[in-house]
Amino acid sequence: MLNRWQALDSWLSDHQALWKPVPFYTPHPDWANVYPELYRALRGLSAEECAALQKNETVTTELLSRWLPGLKQRSWLLEGFLADECELQALDCVLSENQAPHMPERKRVQAGLLASRLQPLSQPITDWCSGMGHLARTLAVASSQQVTGLEWNPQLVERGQQLIHQTRCPHQTRVTLQHQDVLQLQANTAQWPDSTHLVALHACGDLHRHLFHQAVKAGQKRISVVPCCYHLTADAHWHPLADATQRSALQGLSANEMRLAVQETVTAPQRVTEQREELNRWRLGYEALRQHLSRDTHYRFLPSSSVKQLQQGFPEFCHWAASQHGGSLPAQVDWPFWLNQGAQRYAQVQRDELLRHQFRRPLEVWLVLDYVLFLQEAGYQVSLQTFCSREISPRNLLIEAQRYVE
Ligand SMILES: C[S@@+](CC[C@H](N)C(=O)[O-])C[C@H]1O[C@@H](n2cnc3c(N)ncnc32)[C@H](O)[C@@H]1O
Repeated sequence: MLNRWQALDSWLSDHQALWKPVPFYTPHPDWANVYPELYRALRGLSAEECAALQKNETVTTELLSRWLPGLKQRSWLLEGFLADECELQALDCVLSENQAPHMPERKRVQAGLLASRLQPLSQPITDWCSGMGHLARTLAVASSQQVTGLEWNPQLVERGQQLIHQTRCPHQTRVTLQHQDVLQLQANTAQWPDSTHLVALHACGDLHRHLFHQAVKAGQKRISVVPCCYHLTADAHWHPLADATQRSALQGLSANEMRLAVQETVTAPQRVTEQREELNRWRLGYEALRQHLSRDTHYRFLPSSSVKQLQQGFPEFCHWAASQHGGSLPAQVDWPFWLNQGAQRYAQVQRDELLRHQFRRPLEVWLVLDYVLFLQEAGYQVSLQTFCSREISPRNLLIEAQRYVE
């Protein structure tokens, strides 16, 4: 695992000029001057070619390797961790719709596949950041164990309790959801869930990192974590956990740069994707208009906007955006022109992202291998594997750690 992390560390560092600039904010990335032919080839892709490449990272790697031979290493670096290599798994633990009427389909399959992968479950379980307890309920059915979900949002706890009572399944008497801020839990205190198997599905950034630190201190026997949203951290920069990773070539990586690891929306319904894309065209159209009026060529941050704003039309959206920037727009604006500018810019963004997205999964594996090494250094036997396909969830890396027993 250390060799793989080191190889990823050098490879990501060697190529950082290609993945650090965010295409949405950077119309003319510096790498375009170093690789002008690559830049032209990307920008020259038709809409159909671009859409086809977005769906197939391997073909994209082959294409881009013509200009960037180093990209060929990507498949070796990701061997074993590519989402689509995941073997078909037993679906035994996936709850039926009758057993889980209020669980979204994808979460039902996700939780079931994870529960299958975690067999045998031979200890009481703590579901860390349990939300409404979808995984906790699944684990209760998949085992004979007590399952305690810890969740910080009281509304989710209450809704989860209602679901437990509504289901009236005998196994559900073994599930409890507790209102708890997990960041307040410290190892070796009365509150710490000692002697339980700690399971976390999609606990974000600091929430899973706090789990690793405290669980290691507590000497937890078994830890199973599917991490998510690595960039959600109180620190402005990435801090490696393991001793072996302290000398990273990517020292000082910002939380914002870490965000690339989770930039994937394969699970969003088509309509949601289309609405999000339209909103992006509007945001870029407004930005082009703003730059033209202010003669300021630097991207100006705009607070996030809702797809509901699409109902109001592009001019209204631009007036809203200008007010967010403390300004206003002239009475006469050629709206179709600026909307077209936004569409053109967004087409460029999509093409440049084909290149940037080549580094998305490698960055994620690099981040996760640091956790694996940290756990190994603490005396755990650790495996890292995908537990479901990318379509079920792109955040599908499962870290399984068992403490060596002397
Ligand atoms: C991405 S959701 C995952 C929920 C659930 N594990 C699942 O997979 O459906 C992350 C959950 O962490 C909860 N959370 C956020 N901060 C927390 C904290 N400090 N303590 C406990 N839970 C927290 C959120 O309310 C949310 O329910």
